[in-house]
Amino acid sequence: VVEHKIDSIIELMTVKEKVGQMVQYNGSFDVTGIPSDIDSKTKLEKLKNGEVGSMLNVLTAKATREAQQVVMENSRLKIPLLFGYDVIHGYKTMFPVPLGESASWDLEAIQLSASIAAKETAAAGVHWTFAPMIDVSRDARWGRIMEGAGEDPYLNSVIGVARINGFQGGNLDDIATIAACAKHFAGYGFAEAGRDYNTVNVGESELQNAILMPFKAASEAGVATFMNSFNEIDGVPATASSHLQRDILKGEWDYKGFMVSDWGSIAELIPHGFAKDKMQAGELAVVAGSDMDMEGRVYEEALEPLVSQSKIDETLLDAAVRRILRVKFHLGLFEDPYKYSDAKREKEVLLAPEHLVAARDIARKSIVLLKNENEVLPLKKDVKSIAVIGPLADDKDSPLGNWRAQANKNSAVSVLEGIKKAVGSATTINYAKGADLGMGERSFLMPLKINEADKSGLTEAVEAAENSEVVVMVLGEDAFQTGEGRSQTGIKLRGVQQDLLDAVSEINSNIVLILMNGRPLDLSKPNEQVSAILETWFLGSEAGNAIADVLFGAYNPSGKLPVSFPRNVGQEPLYYNQKNTGRPFSDMVTYSGYQDGSREGLFPFGYGLSYTTFEYGKLQLSAEEFSGDATIELSVEVTNTGKVAGKETIQLYIHDLFASRTRPVKELRDFRQITLEPGASKTVNFTISPKTLEFYTANKMWEAEAGEFEVMVGSNSVDLQKVTFQYKN
Ligand code: IFM
Repeated sequence: VVEHKIDSIIELMTVKEKVGQMVQYNGSFDVTGIPSDIDSKTKLEKLKNGEVGSMLNVLTAKATREAQQVVMENSRLKIPLLFGYDVIHGYKTMFPVPLGESASWDLEAIQLSASIAAKETAAAGVHWTFAPMIDVSRDARWGRIMEGAGEDPYLNSVIGVARINGFQGGNLDDIATIAACAKHFAGYGFAEAGRDYNTVNVGESELQNAILMPFKAASEAGVATFMNSFNEIDGVPATASSHLQRDILKGEWDYKGFMVSDWGSIAELIPHGFAKDKMQAGELAVVAGSDMDMEGRVYEEALEPLVSQSKIDETLLDAAVRRILRVKFHLGLFEDPYKYSDAKREKEVLLAPEHLVAARDIARKSIVLLKNENEVLPLKKDVKSIAVIGPLADDKDSPLGNWRAQANKNSAVSVLEGIKKAVGSATTINYAKGADLGMGERSFLMPLKINEADKSGLTEAVEAAENSEVVVMVLGEDAFQTGEGRSQTGIKLRGVQQDLLDAVSEINSNIVLILMNGRPLDLSKPNEQVSAILETWFLGSEAGNAIADVLFGAYNPSGKLPVSFPRNVGQEPLYYNQKNTGRPFSDMVTYSGYQDGSREGLFPFGYGLSYTTFEYGKLQLSAEEFSGDATIELSVEVTNTGKVAGKETIQLYIHDLFASRTRPVKELRDFRQITLEPGASKTVNFTISPKTLEFYTANKMWEAEAGEFEVMVGSNSVDLQKVTFQYKN
């Protein structure tokens, strides 16, 4: 039915109106600094003429209703506008940044947070989020590593699907859901040297197995839209890549949604050196399958003349428009273009108390305990005195992270506030900021000024530490240190934070380090100076409460790292699922390693401690070989051997020993989470099927190859037991 309705609309459309559907305008702020060359009067005229199909950054029930009205009351065909916005980890209620939330490995909680974000976004009149970002990223220098699920393709796949399901809710027509967007297609996370927008050079095997796996999963999960990426890949900018967009996405995967460009990426084909002018850029992009031009101002200029000069066929526009209208139909906009723009609902839904409850829950699940010497944690609630020190300790803004949508400034619960609420009146709190990250006025686009020299706060901090039983230091990054364009050459604690830690640790060695950051940091030195480390990322609105829950034991930490933490920046890109190489490892010089340091990171992928301990029994495999579509079962008994209840994430990795394309030494292919009371045991079962073993082979398809496999199970990517089996097909 929908397709028939679309046919009848397309039949009525002029070329100009078709192009209009493929144009997206910005409504408010300029995200990437490309100067806006079009005044609001012209914009208004274009809306009235049906020359704009979508807008981004138009927010609130009132503003979206007004913009929609312009189109519905003036344009000839009255095709509703689609409103999009970057809702990356919440709209008003902030959840942990995606990398942090991914550390929970809790797919239900992740889906819930996306569904709440969708509910708030939809109540503000917006139909579509540019999320999830499912770019596999292996480089801590890359600022956008904070926006995805880290270095593993499988984890990015399952978390991406959880987010899509949360946003879209299985029914786009529902006013509590929004359309999602799988981005950035493709290779954006593989930018050379971690420098944002930089060139990507990968071959087909790496492209398919490491980069595209999550996108394939997103397509299969029915994500409504895709966004292409700024980077070139193997000499072709992704925006103009027919191989990616036509052959793979719309061809092999038979994807039916539409592809939006990234901001201005069609126009950027010119500086890429791939198109000589806007006309050629438009032609290349539309032929390659980019359906909508986000603020590139290319399609509006180029497509009509390209059709009239017979340089492109009008059916190309029909196909793109069909995809765009399909999403509008599924959202129910043709029935009621104003259904999302309801000011009363907006008021009720944003920051609803139950949203904050969920935000606290997912925030505490995202915290990773990296070190806990002598069981210094959890702290006793009746501890006599705590020094709370650090530039981020009483910061109510940084926990909101970057890409914070409509979060109110300074609205997060700070660590200091969380601690104060958690302890009784018998505990003295000695607070000292100690150092200043230089966080004055700052924003998405402003370069950061980190205060590198001012050591004047150190004395006050040392005094606070001297007079306290335990020291809680809150160090890390400013919220805007990660995100788009925030690549760095260094990943140590910036500013005078290391000096602060040096000074405090000389006076009091009983230090709990709370980290706030959006990328893996070089913790080599801090790790030697403190007793405990809690990786808390940027946890969102309820950060301080969630951190206090973990500090004082109301919640037993269960997070596991979705990225490897290196010993120093020279190890980057560092990721667990590496290839063996022809010269795997030896103390000899002529093997693959470093002469001035270890090959291994400081904290591996999948790592995270608990206040309890888990013991793994022996792995039991139901058979040592299987074939065809059969499966085998692997089971392991896990026992809580500590004194408190806890949650463990049991991880399963595969190693395909010989294959038609070399395979990583281990690859995550499944995991389970269980909660165990002290002393309790549970048998965890995994099914190993051909699907568990498949990869993109030399046959250019996803399949399991016959051969010998190792299967490894354990609590992180290093502490694993191993058994072997054969697969025959
Ligand atoms: O969605 C983003 C994208 O990830 C980066 N460039 C701007 C887009 C819209 O804000």
